[in-house]
Amino acid sequence: MTETLLNTNTHDIQSARMKYVDATAHLSTQPNSLKELIDLIYQAFSTNEVDIDYVRTIMTNYKGDIKEWQQYVKFQQHRYTRNLVDGGNGKFNLMILCWAESQGSSIHNHSNSHCFMKCLQGTLIETKFAWPHGENEAEEAMQEIGRSELKDGKVAYINDSIGLHRVENPSHTDTGVTLHLYVPPYDHCNVYDERTGRANEAHVTFYSRGGQLTKEE
Ligand SMILES: [Fe+2]
Repeated sequence: MTETLLNTNTHDIQSARMKYVDATAHLSTQPNSLKELIDLIYQAFSTNEVDIDYVRTIMTNYKGDIKEWQQYVKFQQHRYTRNLVDGGNGKFNLMILCWAESQGSSIHNHSNSHCFMKCLQGTLIETKFAWPHGENEAEEAMQEIGRSELKDGKVAYINDSIGLHRVENPSHTDTGVTLHLYVPPYDHCNVYDERTGRANEAHVTFYSRGGQLTKEE
């Protein structure tokens, strides 16, 4: 599946898809290191289209050697952390998220971006929700539309047309680490109250960049 980042008509999408497939057919599907994975992501996003299947394949095939991503792992006591690995020249953000025991996110959207998430360590639970009521309708509890376990290098994918989600580390004894790719990057999203569906805008920040703690939080 190939998706364009811009709204275009069907003909444009078809021709963009053909161009994209031609442009990326030569790319390897087996990154042998984090650096090779990053190089392939740069090449995959050298056009304005996102080949979801290709990106999912290379993220799945990346073995995820702990020696390569350990430097980005930084836990915080009260909240999961977002740690930037590569800013992707403004086209994407690759980051490591660290989930201490029992930490989880709010229910959130993805600001029209594609979101890929690979489990590097531990077991996470992803719960998907339908979009809440419209602005003029009564508040009501949000509807769960799916729940899945993410572990053992598995890759999940979501965008706003699929719905909203929450990610949690349900373990009281083990930490979790995930590798996330957002295309294009974004710094604001909405978070939702599960009981009412009410949305609030949230500014997303990095706890570290390139392995160095930031002062953003
Ligand atoms: Fe998310």
